[in-house]
Amino acid sequence: MSSKLSPLLCLRTAVRSAARTAQRPQFIQQTRAISATTRRPSDALMVHRNTPDNNPDIPFKFTKENEAIMAEIIKRYPPQYKKAAVMPLLDLGQRQHGFTSISVMNEVARILEMPPMRVYEVASFYTMYNRTPVGKFFVQACTTTPCQLGGCGSDVIVKAISEHLGIKQGQTTPDGLFTFIEVECLGACVNAPMIQINDDYYEDLTPETVKTLLTALKDSVSDVGKAEKTKVPAPGPMSGRQTCENLNGLTNLTSEPWGPEVTRKDL
Ligand code: FES
Repeated sequence: MSSKLSPLLCLRTAVRSAARTAQRPQFIQQTRAISATTRRPSDALMVHRNTPDNNPDIPFKFTKENEAIMAEIIKRYPPQYKKAAVMPLLDLGQRQHGFTSISVMNEVARILEMPPMRVYEVASFYTMYNRTPVGKFFVQACTTTPCQLGGCGSDVIVKAISEHLGIKQGQTTPDGLFTFIEVECLGACVNAPMIQINDDYYEDLTPETVKTLLTALKDSVSDVGKAEKTKVPAPGPMSGRQTCENLNGLTNLTSEPWGPEVTRKDL
């Protein structure tokens, strides 16, 4: 009996299975447009190319003062692991030379007895090492979402900087004073929009305050008379607040705390 029914059962199962498959949306043949953002490669060259101001024939030595700092840094690590000092030494070299040139990297490799390639790998991985010359004032404008949305927004700050300096992001002014780039979050989102200039943060910016700041920085290094009179705004919020306190005063927790709650009087 079963042998007579089994072809019929098989046929019925196959028909049901085909019907189920046809109903499942993933089996429906259709073309779907997939949107993707355009690929935008970094404009920073990841390989070194010799240039007149950055090639291994340009000698580089740490100054006497920096040699003392360097010795202090290297002392923090066990002698067999002194290569762990590669990052602070590259930073020291950058501060002395103005940027992390190939000669700075080679000198750090020599001092730490590392293969130069290992130093190149570190210097090319971390974006805080500038491997090409930058201006005296290195302006980094944060354009990540909180800065884009906070205050007047980073778009108008970027526009104000570009217009005031007459350069686009990634460029340096002809007098070599300012280099301007856009960067990702610098961790001061609560005081957005903000920029970093060299080691300092300037926050709660408006197009007017950022222009005033850039003018003051330029005047501070131009002719002596102007430089003496110039007062460069102090780093930090430029809105008058001290840190990141609420400009409108307290908006919650405004009443006196009612003290500890008692749920059981017998305890
Ligand atoms: S988003 Fe600009 S500092 Fe965080």
